[in-house]
Amino acid sequence: MKAETHSAPEMSGSSQSGAPGDERKTSDLTDLADTLVSRLDELGKVSDEEPRLVRTFLSPASARANALVGGWMRGAGLNVREDAWGNLWGSRPGPPGSRTLLIGSHLDTVVDAGRFDGPAGVLLGIAVARAVAEADLPFGLEVVGFSDEEGVRFQSTYLGSRGCLGLLTPAELALTDDDGIRLGDLIEVRRRAGFSDAVLEAGNLLGYLEMHIEQGPVLEAENLPLAVVPGIAGQTRILAGFTGKAGHAGTTPMALRHDALTAAARMVTEAETLARDTPGLLATVGKLEVAPGAGNVIPGACSFTLDVRSPDNNIRLRAVEDLENLGSALARERGLAWHWEIKQSNPAVPCDAALTTRLAEAAAADQPRVPCLFSGAGHDAAVFAGSCPAAMLFIRCRGGLSHHPDEFASPEDLAAALRAAVRFVLNLAEKPL
Ligand code: GLV
Ligand code: MN
Ligand code: MN
Repeated sequence: MKAETHSAPEMSGSSQSGAPGDERKTSDLTDLADTLVSRLDELGKVSDEEPRLVRTFLSPASARANALVGGWMRGAGLNVREDAWGNLWGSRPGPPGSRTLLIGSHLDTVVDAGRFDGPAGVLLGIAVARAVAEADLPFGLEVVGFSDEEGVRFQSTYLGSRGCLGLLTPAELALTDDDGIRLGDLIEVRRRAGFSDAVLEAGNLLGYLEMHIEQGPVLEAENLPLAVVPGIAGQTRILAGFTGKAGHAGTTPMALRHDALTAAARMVTEAETLARDTPGLLATVGKLEVAPGAGNVIPGACSFTLDVRSPDNNIRLRAVEDLENLGSALARERGLAWHWEIKQSNPAVPCDAALTTRLAEAAAADQPRVPCLFSGAGHDAAVFAGSCPAAMLFIRCRGGLSHHPDEFASPEDLAAALRAAVRFVLNLAEKPL
């Protein structure tokens, strides 16, 4: 799905020329930015379904990606470990008793993905760690690659970040993938294989920084490389479906049919109409399965996913309720059985104002103004925003395109993000929050 961003008032970032790390490290940062770009290409080839890019939660390609990125973390001087949830951590301890600044994003992808959504933020985190390796920081630094932000395997989202914070509910641990494997069982097997849960104490976090491509067109339209993010939309992920009766396409009169697909088709178009007519609401059916699936057989069953989002939790929750009621009314009218399962529901959250202001100041050193763009896409920062100060830096991407193999952010804009993040970290070290 293509994300939507909303323009909001700009952050007033004071220009910080002469800020720590500004000029001193420019040439190192150019080298680091070049390395980052070639690593994004290399990581973009690590796929479960070559030649297209697909890397889902705890898949073989995800294990290969963790091995590759773990090696890059080690090269940046970080201590590397992987947890039971498949998250990859690279840490640099701070002075005794100090807190930790976490920088990261996700390493999983959608189906037929681009190579920037998620990995750009992780590899930028590694480049930042490398850039500040010699700096005397009064806090620890941890770079993380989360294992599941897209939620392709379990039709959920944020399994990596919510898992490591102990936030998954028993209902979520009971989610099953297409092969009937329970999430909780999968994690238990990994625990028995020696992977640990106990990696993160949210109370000990100074903050969480996530750098991510914008996934929308605003920065390109405004001819600016970077923006900060005041908040992240809430989302509900649903698996729904109708069960009717399969039958002969040539002999069953139209009035006597119990066609599951035609009911699902109504749901798809009604969801679109509802979202078009409701400001701030987005609704998407991204996957639909029809059984038995033959041209001359009336569809006996049809299941589909529904992704409902809004910056306003009330608007989202009302839409979810309306669509559930519509499905059961259609089922009654057409003599069908109706299935509705909320896989996950995550509220909209604000990012931390103080940390976001610091980030805007760091970005403002390099560009005339720093827009503030609300995120319609989900990010692991939405999870951390509930546990510690969280801030996000958006990076311009070509045509606003994301969740598509043509997704692209320029080397120059990635380098701008790296410079801003290095300034942000060094400024935090010099002037604590
Ligand atoms: C993640 O990219 C999402 O918002 O679906
Ligand atoms: Mn992402
Ligand atoms: Mn994504």
